[in-house]
Amino acid sequence: MAQRIRKAVLPVAGLGTRFLPATKAVPKELLTVVDRPLIQYAVEECLAAGIDEFVFVTGRNKDALEDHFDVAYELEATLEKRRKHPELALTQAANLMPGNAVFTRQQRPLGLGHAVWCARHWIGNEPFAVLLPDELTLGSPNCTARLVEAHAQTGGSVVAVMEVPREHTNRYGIAAVEKEKKGLSEITGMVEKPKPADAPSTLALIGRYVLMPEIFEHLDKKETGAGGEIQLTDAMAKMIGVSPFHALRYDGQRYDCGHRLGFLEANVAVSLHRADTGAETREMLSRLLKD
Ligand code: G1P
Repeated sequence: MAQRIRKAVLPVAGLGTRFLPATKAVPKELLTVVDRPLIQYAVEECLAAGIDEFVFVTGRNKDALEDHFDVAYELEATLEKRRKHPELALTQAANLMPGNAVFTRQQRPLGLGHAVWCARHWIGNEPFAVLLPDELTLGSPNCTARLVEAHAQTGGSVVAVMEVPREHTNRYGIAAVEKEKKGLSEITGMVEKPKPADAPSTLALIGRYVLMPEIFEHLDKKETGAGGEIQLTDAMAKMIGVSPFHALRYDGQRYDCGHRLGFLEANVAVSLHRADTGAETREMLSRLLKD
């Protein structure tokens, strides 16, 4: 029987150079989509999927992330005294359970595979989730919950994929699949950032994974791939044919917040979607478009 997924790795060491100067002093994962930082969407996605232990793989200048998920004692006491209960609830919503989060530093920018490898001692010998917080996914059940469910069915690794235009294959890990049934297919190959002409398909990995712990045996070898980095995609590719490896076609919304326009789109989309801001956002947009 498949093991329950209890832990998630959140790689958050990236420098966020595409968002300079905003990210000069502020971690990119704390940039907000409407009023919540990107990283909080990823954590809430995990909690809704039944995952409540977190390994944040951070880097220098990322201490604010740790503070974000800690009890802000002075702030909470002030809000309490001023009877600002809705604001207090919003503040406390980001407090993680004591002992349920660890923060470890990647130390050197050697690639996503290396970042995940840095979490190995905290994950141990059990399947786990990986979420790249740059990618914002919305939907119910959420993307990670869908992967957890697919893992329970297949007993192996599962990654979320979506179609992208062929001219964008060099931005993503691309999976070749077969035998698709209700959105779940067997993976036959995976390659990181192939040129459009070489891509085995247009199914891109969208930064949501459930992986078997054997991934660490491959990451241990520290082999470099695309861009001279230790790629998670290359380590995953080694597991194909050894243990079950599936792709789940995600049919919810997804925003690539690693790029400025994707980030802007996420802000507009989430704002349009929310009950408290939807109507006003719609009005604002039609006003702006008229000018
Ligand atoms: C990473 C992964 C890639 C994946 C992408 C999703 O690339 O290496 O396989 O498709 O995230 O956003 P990065 O965006 O870090 O270059």
